[in-house]
Amino acid sequence: MNHHKQILSILAVGLFTLGAAGMAFGEDDDDDDDRRDKRSQSRADFALVTNAAYGEECGSCHMAYQPGLLPARAWTAIMSPDGLSNHYGDDASLTDELRNEISAYLTANGADRSGGKRASKFAESRAGADGGLPRISENPYFVKEHDEIPARLIKDNPDVGSLSKCNACHRGAAEGDYSERQINIPGHGPWED
Ligand code: HEC
Ligand code: HEC
Repeated sequence: MNHHKQILSILAVGLFTLGAAGMAFGEDDDDDDDRRDKRSQSRADFALVTNAAYGEECGSCHMAYQPGLLPARAWTAIMSPDGLSNHYGDDASLTDELRNEISAYLTANGADRSGGKRASKFAESRAGADGGLPRISENPYFVKEHDEIPARLIKDNPDVGSLSKCNACHRGAAEGDYSERQINIPGHGPWED
């Protein structure tokens, strides 16, 4: 190969690479559009629970919260061995095998990964107020949405007890539907603000 031809072939490789990169970017754009379409079409606010082990192991004491209600880093803290053995005052320890499977599922579908109008509002999380594990019910958007409900309907309500019991008031909670018309607070009824 003479010098001239060598330069030409380097140029050709360069152009080909640029072309391929351009195509890759083009595909990314299409993916984003698809995702946006799915978001606006979906009725439920949050993607449903699809992992059986999660539903079984984490749905026995309270409902299995949709993964989109907390960001990945919060799920990671909750699913650490220490987090599970000191689980909001309970012991929710699991075998390593189950712990790893459930943790991978939750982090892959966390509020900061899954998209969706409401899930994105749950992407923000703080460390637990008492220095403990993060809570859905301490997320700033959640607090704002629930701050007008009087304590007598929550803590002092024998059929509710705490804001962690989403499905006590949200009849569509298991289907990921938290819309206002699906609310029915025990001893109070629908919510009109
Ligand atoms: C042995 C019973 C038990 C099991 C099993 C259990 N939890 Fe909990 N969980 C609790 C209790 C008790 C609370 C605190 C509820 C309250 O404050 O009213 C809680 C709270 C939570 C919260 C915070 C809810 C909020 O207020 O925002 C999350 C998130 C959570 N659990 C996730 C999980 C996950 C993930 C698993 C499975 C690995 C799991 N839980 C298994 C008992 C349990
Ligand atoms: C004591 C009953 C009660 C409990 C328990 C409860 N909520 Fe709510 N939630 C409400 C009420 C009432 C509203 C409506 C507030 C408003 O619109 O002024 C609401 C609003 C919401 C909204 C906003 C809905 C919208 O369309 O704007 C979301 C999301 C939500 N709740 C999720 C949850 C989750 C997740 C849990 C459990 C971690 C939970 N809630 C627990 C009563 C409750």
